[in-house]
Amino acid sequence: MQSVNIGILGLGTVGSGVYELLGKNGDLISTRSDVVVTVKMVADVDPSKKKEYSIPDNIFSVEASDVIENPDIDVVVELIGGTTVARELMLKALRKGKHVVTANKALLAEHGKEIFGTALANNVNLGYEASVGGGIPIIKTIREALVGNVIHRVMGILNGTSNFILTKMTREGIDFDSALRIAQELGFAEADPTLDISGGDAQHKIVILASLAFNTAIDMQHVYVEGVEHIERRDMQYADELGFVLKLLAHAERMDDGVLVKVHPTLVPRDNPLAAISWEDNAIMVYSDFLGKSMYYGKGAGKRPTASAVVADIVDISQRISCGAECDRAHYSFTQELPQLPFDRSRSRYYLRFFVLDRPGILSKISGILGDNDISIASVIQKETEEERQHVPLVMMTHKAHEAHITRAIEAIDRLPEVEGKSRIIRVIDGE
Ligand SMILES: NC(=O)c1ccc[n+]([C@@H]2O[C@H](COP(=O)([O-])OP(=O)(O)OC[C@H]3O[C@@H](n4cnc5c(N)ncnc54)[C@H](OP(=O)(O)O)[C@@H]3O)[C@@H](O)[C@H]2O)c1
Repeated sequence: MQSVNIGILGLGTVGSGVYELLGKNGDLISTRSDVVVTVKMVADVDPSKKKEYSIPDNIFSVEASDVIENPDIDVVVELIGGTTVARELMLKALRKGKHVVTANKALLAEHGKEIFGTALANNVNLGYEASVGGGIPIIKTIREALVGNVIHRVMGILNGTSNFILTKMTREGIDFDSALRIAQELGFAEADPTLDISGGDAQHKIVILASLAFNTAIDMQHVYVEGVEHIERRDMQYADELGFVLKLLAHAERMDDGVLVKVHPTLVPRDNPLAAISWEDNAIMVYSDFLGKSMYYGKGAGKRPTASAVVADIVDISQRISCGAECDRAHYSFTQELPQLPFDRSRSRYYLRFFVLDRPGILSKISGILGDNDISIASVIQKETEEERQHVPLVMMTHKAHEAHITRAIEAIDRLPEVEGKSRIIRVIDGE
């Protein structure tokens, strides 16, 4: 049986999970895969981690370079996070001819071209299953199970924190701030939740998925991103009455002339399987030409699910080392240069909510502006409000329209003297 030596950088949530998993299930892994994975070295800047996770003295270091420089280590497992130190260490390891496994979505989304390029140039493998969807094997699915399919669209709930908050708001009728506070108390949101609630984390993940699905380098800067931080409970209630559930969806679509990638709150019809994905769970739907629609669901983060995905990559690479196979270039080569399309090319149905003076004629003014912009209305509901205010909520669902037309129409509607504040636009999931 071939023995493969690994070195772990960072013994935090995920790193400690990987160490524990290999300790607990190492024999099972050897039986199943015919390789012995040995943790040769572990590095963390915090020396107290050695005692906390019972790491033997002779394999612990506070210096990451002890792992990178160790000639006996075949695979470096980067679990430090961030885009600065981790980037330098990863590039160094790849240039030294070491295979790398990482869960670092921010780094791959921002510097993927450089990192994948360096792995290719040095003929080593780069495993990144854990960077998207935590324990859900979506990278392996796209690159292996769907290798014979043209992928048209990848869409999913990729951030557990925002999904937890939205589920809490929907089920318990509480506002965003209260739901966020509860998520923080339960450990589903960080003390600084910005990256999760602003859509930035989902942006990182959809960039990785779209790059893989369409074999093209996706530029983060050209991804439209809108988070959940301004979602109001009232819109969830109205959407519920119309048969929809509100989710933060990340979406990548191959169009005739390029790729459109976006992250935003989306209304999902109650009978769509994505509507049932609740709390901190994640799910990804992939639309491809031969398999058709398929969906992958599970825990999108956390110590054990993420460690499970990291270990799967370690074993995969170990088996390749054991067979003497060179790296599989197609797994991360950007063979196409597809243009990234602007968000105003997007097309969907829309939920629109205005606050209007309860006066005759206002409805025809608004529908006139929508009509002038090629937007046709599917339904209108005027809501009563218990609040003491002059303006009443007016909710409209449109048929499919262009984002550019909606933007123009809403700007005009918001300028009407009878309309109070900024109107709310929520996109509705595209038809099947
Ligand atoms: N947590 C999850 O559920 C999850 C899920 C999917 C992907 N990920 C990704 O996995 C990676 C790790 O996340 P995590 O949650 O495990 O982070 P974490 O708990 O903060 O762990 C990172 C560890 O690395 C240590 N560290 C920092 N700089 C170091 C250096 N120069 N050399 C060695 N060790 C260093 C940190 O020590 P100090 O704390 O003392 O700085 C900490 O112990 C990130 O890229 C994250 O995005 C995490």
